[in-house]
Amino acid sequence: MSRLDSFIRRMQAQRLLIDHAARAIADLDGPVLELGLGNGRTYHHLREKLPRRRIIAFDIKVTAQPDSIPAAEDLVLGDIKETARGFVGIGAALVHSDLGSGIPDRDRETLSWLPRLVPTLLAPSGLVLSDLALDDPRLLPQPLPEGVAERRYHMYVISGGERLALKGRREE
Ligand SMILES: C[S@@+](CC[C@H](N)C(=O)[O-])C[C@H]1O[C@@H](n2cnc3c(N)ncnc32)[C@H](O)[C@@H]1O
Repeated sequence: MSRLDSFIRRMQAQRLLIDHAARAIADLDGPVLELGLGNGRTYHHLREKLPRRRIIAFDIKVTAQPDSIPAAEDLVLGDIKETARGFVGIGAALVHSDLGSGIPDRDRETLSWLPRLVPTLLAPSGLVLSDLALDDPRLLPQPLPEGVAERRYHMYVISGGERLALKGRREE
């Protein structure tokens, strides 16, 4: 597959999943955490789909377009491995993690801490979208909405949240 095709599929998967997640968490309180602000594309889409929700974005530094930079109180700069520790117990309704680099060694390092961290950020029925597969017993893999290729993206609920993921699916 060409890099262009791969990029398009990735963007389509992100849009489908964010739309799905926005429906699924409609009745669940708690902020959204965007791990990997990057260019700000997915942050911008989250903000559009969840206009009344607090969305806190994390990155090592700001490289986002000006219209996709959160207010200072919702922007956390530095290594997420360290900065996210300050948010343990925040009760996020949704964590969207987009930290994959495509560089195997770097992604292996990320996966040495990310799967353990994510459950500690979630509300009791919280939902997770992630470009990298997260292996942790507290995270239950969920089937992806139609149109998202297997293994391109991953969706999880924290144990006990199965009903929520289904809710987003029923309303598609
Ligand atoms: C693929 S980009 C995110 C793209 C973004 N979701 C978008 O739609 O524009 C990944 C981002 O994660 C950030 N990142 C990766 N690992 C990180 C870490 N350990 N701490 C902070 N930021 C990290 C990178 O700096 C990069 O901006």
